Amino acid sequence: MNTMSNLAILGGRVIDPAQNVDRPAAVLIKDGRVEEITARPLSKGPEGYEVIDAAGLIVAPGFIDLHCHLREPGSEHKETIATGTAAAARGGFTTVCAMANTDPCPDNAAVVGDLLRRIERDAAVRVLPIGAITLGRRGEHLAPMAELAASGVVAFSDDGDPVMDPDVMRHALSYATGLRGVVHGAQRRLPIINHAEDRGLSRDGQMHDGAVAARLGLAGIPGEAEVAMVARDIHLAELTGGRLHIPHVSTRRAVEHVRAAKARGLHVTAEATPHHLTLTDVWAYGLHGETPHGLSLAAYDTNTKVSPPLRSQDDVDAVTGALADGTIDAIATDHAPHAMTDKVCTYHEAAKGINCLETAFAQVMSLVLGGRIALPALIERMSAAPARVLGLGLGSLKRGWPADLVFIDHDAEWTVDAGLFASKARNTPLDGVGLRGRVMATICAGRVVFDARAGLALPRPGNPRRAGDSSGGRT
Ligand code: DOR
Repeated sequence: MNTMSNLAILGGRVIDPAQNVDRPAAVLIKDGRVEEITARPLSKGPEGYEVIDAAGLIVAPGFIDLHCHLREPGSEHKETIATGTAAAARGGFTTVCAMANTDPCPDNAAVVGDLLRRIERDAAVRVLPIGAITLGRRGEHLAPMAELAASGVVAFSDDGDPVMDPDVMRHALSYATGLRGVVHGAQRRLPIINHAEDRGLSRDGQMHDGAVAARLGLAGIPGEAEVAMVARDIHLAELTGGRLHIPHVSTRRAVEHVRAAKARGLHVTAEATPHHLTLTDVWAYGLHGETPHGLSLAAYDTNTKVSPPLRSQDDVDAVTGALADGTIDAIATDHAPHAMTDKVCTYHEAAKGINCLETAFAQVMSLVLGGRIALPALIERMSAAPARVLGLGLGSLKRGWPADLVFIDHDAEWTVDAGLFASKARNTPLDGVGLRGRVMATICAGRVVFDARAGLALPRPGNPRRAGDSSGGRT
């Protein structure tokens, strides 16, 4: 038994999309699990419960990130499990899926076992490992996928690099049909998440192939690099009956392929990142989305370099529309921390990736403020929907489920200061940008893992660590 307190969260507006709840209510937490969302708001907690005052705040299921890069093992100078999950907690995330492009990569049970031990030791929130599709992520030979599934991975991906060989991808989809997850009530087949980029088309491109690339004199990456790979993978999923999840969708045409695949009844899901939902290639000018008359020293902002690249406004509109209508199931951060030396260099030399966990919610909150999606739907895309993609018994405040919660002040205005990130890395194009909507506190499995507001008077955790208890969330 642990010593965590039982909690009564009073005075908040509880939004739990999976249960169609959006009303003033109290949430009771016992032994790290949700005991009840009361029918009426309570004025005081039951005997023996520590009270948390959530007046003025939204109380919602903790966010689940299907896609982040924690860099450990191998690139601890960029991020570690400790710093990455501290950033996740600040961002309201209670579960994050760790991508496989580490060194060594999780292409066998021994590496996954080592990763799980590190997570148990260092993680502030729940971390679910993603296994590699191919040995060494080289795209040539399949990793032992059954062994990886049994060791606790929740999906397979070589993200960062695509599986270019269609025959390897076909067999990966085929083999994965027989595999089931073993953690958090995962009942679904484990998805294959293929980095959607045809390298034959992206080649040495540095940013989206459009007017901005032409003006900056940078080689372009056409949208077709993504579209061709998404179309191929959907065909292979249809051929094999495999379970395909498409990461970081960034183009209108890829959205159309996903929409058509779903209409044909294929079990294809998709995610989009906060940056592909809110930023365009114009941000490469370094002026926070403004187009300059003449190029300034701010241009070639390497913090905008990402794969897939920031696209056109038309693409952003299509991706946000697809998020609102459910064609894109979930928001995933693709949190990709990089060291200063990876970004203080020419655009050509710079590493691809955007640091996202701590800004994600406020970034996509702009879609609510702009009337593109309702707040409960946005919360659904960050909690229940990603849980559904992986078949996890998480992402809702159902009775008996792990008490994973986020406290949101949806009106709070704040300015991004990358220097204050819990993440080790600072690579965001949003440094100095004003945002609205802020995560105030995060509770993971009944423990407070982030508390921004002293006035909220949240009790301090005895031990903030959390990792994947394999029994959690089974229904
Ligand atoms: O921009 C990106 N950075 N895209 C990826 O797919 C990989 C990631 C990384 O690992 O840095």
